[in-house]
Amino acid sequence: MILVVGGAGYIGSHLVEELVRTHEVVVLDNLSTGHRGAVDAQAVFVEGDLGSESDLESVFSKYPINAVMHFAANSLVGESVTDPLKYYENNVAATLTLLKIMLKYNVKNFIFSSTAATYGIPDVNIIREDSRTQPINPYGQSKLMVENILADFATAYDLHYVVLRYFNAAGASESGRIGEQHDPETHLIPIILQHLLGQREQISVFGDDYDTPDGTCIRDYIHVTDLAQAHIAALDSLLAEKSKTATYNLGNGQGYSVKEVIDTCESVTGRKANVIIAERRAGDPARLVASSEKIRQALGWKAERDLEQIISSAWNWHQSIQ
Ligand code: UFG
Repeated sequence: MILVVGGAGYIGSHLVEELVRTHEVVVLDNLSTGHRGAVDAQAVFVEGDLGSESDLESVFSKYPINAVMHFAANSLVGESVTDPLKYYENNVAATLTLLKIMLKYNVKNFIFSSTAATYGIPDVNIIREDSRTQPINPYGQSKLMVENILADFATAYDLHYVVLRYFNAAGASESGRIGEQHDPETHLIPIILQHLLGQREQISVFGDDYDTPDGTCIRDYIHVTDLAQAHIAALDSLLAEKSKTATYNLGNGQGYSVKEVIDTCESVTGRKANVIIAERRAGDPARLVASSEKIRQALGWKAERDLEQIISSAWNWHQSIQ
């Protein structure tokens, strides 16, 4: 059985929807940001905290867990700067508790959600896994700390793990059942679509004086279902004992500027956006684009869905919850 910690959150719930087709799944989530209704009905759901040894013990003693996939983290860059304690506590300390209980129950397979924020401001155009990691905020630091802990645990305790560094996850399940639902919402695509649905007055573009062709930041957007499928490929490789440790980027390998994303949202929806140019947001690198060549070669995974498919799936979902 696979334990998915944080399986009620945005990326976790999309993973669970795919994973239940091939594996038995138990979800542990404290519902601090996740939604109970987002968890696929085929999965067992346990409400609890990954930082609580007793909550973890009750799951590991009850279910025959053979791998853990860990999605439960705080992930807002700005908040991590103003409240680093929350990020080191929830993202690092609680993960250590989870790893401790895993080892106690002799569970040695672990998939970890990491982030492009581990790279900080890259000095290359296309980021590879061996590019320099130098986070510029506590969120990125917290994820890199766990990556380093995992490497030490692999050496000392024979932990097998895959680290997946996500670029910009976006889009909604093609089932139409779940989508991106953060409160407050800070991500670009849902903000644009909420505006186009009349739920926000305007869109603020955070800076148009970056060193990019149109002056706005470039990101690598990846469909959440592509992300989910990459996790399953990584999990199956661990379970088949094909590799002991690995770190992979997950992106499309193609960058889009904020203006290009707004244009694509307008063409997908057939609606016109009211856009203003605002101040730069602290901590935004000008360009973050992944090379996902390593996971393609190792596991045969690549992103299948492009920006239009990302936006149209999100648009369907946002319309459905109006
Ligand atoms: N943006 C705007 N206006 C908005 C919202 C966003 O212009 O209203 C811009 C941002 O400045 C950025 C781009 O749109 O240039 C994308 O912003 P998001 O907030 O959607 O995503 P981020 O790239 O900031 O964040 C993502 C993940 C984080 C991760 C980070 C790594 O969501 O978890 O990448 O840098 F840490």
